[in-house]
Amino acid sequence: MLDALEPLPADTILGVAAACRADTRLHKVDLSVGVYMDEQGQCPVFEAVRQAQQALVAQEATKAYMPPAGDPLFNRGMQQLVLGSNSPALAAGRVSSVQTPGGCGALRIGAEVINVAVPRARVWVSDPTWPVHLPLLGSVGLRFETYRYYDPAGPDVNFGAMMEDLQAAESGDVVLLHGCCHNPCGADLSIDQWAQIADMAERQGFTPFIDIAYQGLGDSLDEDAAGLRLLVERLPEVIIAASCSKNMGLYRERTGAVLFVCANAADAGTLETQALGAARRIYSMPPAHGALLAGRILENEALGGLWRAELSEMCDRINTLRSGLADQLTAVSGRDFSFIQREKGMFSFLGLSAAQTQRLREEHAVYMLDSSRINVAGVNAANLDYLASSVAAVL
Ligand code: LMR
Repeated sequence: MLDALEPLPADTILGVAAACRADTRLHKVDLSVGVYMDEQGQCPVFEAVRQAQQALVAQEATKAYMPPAGDPLFNRGMQQLVLGSNSPALAAGRVSSVQTPGGCGALRIGAEVINVAVPRARVWVSDPTWPVHLPLLGSVGLRFETYRYYDPAGPDVNFGAMMEDLQAAESGDVVLLHGCCHNPCGADLSIDQWAQIADMAERQGFTPFIDIAYQGLGDSLDEDAAGLRLLVERLPEVIIAASCSKNMGLYRERTGAVLFVCANAADAGTLETQALGAARRIYSMPPAHGALLAGRILENEALGGLWRAELSEMCDRINTLRSGLADQLTAVSGRDFSFIQREKGMFSFLGLSAAQTQRLREEHAVYMLDSSRINVAGVNAANLDYLASSVAAVL
């Protein structure tokens, strides 16, 4: 049965990371996977996570299953983190959420529930989007339409084109939006543009599905969620996939949540049962460790304060790197790279062809995706000059 299967090609993101790992050149630069790296090129464990973990290990009394919806502390904390502690939607009880294995698990459970509500529903995805959105949602049976989003000529969001394409999105359709720090392009919507999307959703009846995997890495936890919160307060239904991979550094702990903002509390209760049904069909119960850590951090004032300070430092460093990289690339290449400073989060496109990114890999040991998406957090004082001169050499 199995010997007829063909091997799959390497993943467009993980394949580049694997090639970089295998490269023995000491001066290699890894800008592939979206993992925060510090000045030493390490992905650090947050001190708040370390402290929460010590307490958890000391107190943990069982490894019995988690409740199917996950850790209640975590779910409450995530609702407040994403929607804001003063959220009217939360106060009205019209939100339910379920702990998921990472942001991917949240996207998948969201997709499963959408497909029960409207089998083979159309999902509008930005061009470009994170490539994994397509298999994650598509293998459930959802169909895709694309809306134009990024104009490489700016480079900037092509909001006019986005609005034009979304004119065709209707009730029963889903519009997948990046809450902040767009992956892969780093170009985000302004608050005024979010308001126009809310107007459009009100008029046309489509349901926003917001992937907010990078909350806290653009400007701050609250500013990064401002567009999402605007939609939640204006619209009867919004689905949200949230993650603690990046903003708590819990990548390997697979810690995320899917939130269903509904028209009323009764619907929110129903949606929780649908999400639990979907989880039971796929993996039954959520993993414990990451959510137990995140729940403690979100609940405890001291740990929460420490975490927020660490995250804010991380965010500041990314924005400083953005300025430094923009200046250095512009100076060395003579091309205008100032857009890197305007963009948000971990990612930007450098505007190179796939052939140029291949040359960077082969001749300079600089690894970025074929699309020329870089992980800005992979830049540091030790590799900045080398990176800039390598990019200039292939232009
Ligand atoms: C990325 O875009 O690099 C990250 O979200 C990691 C992944 O799973 O692709």
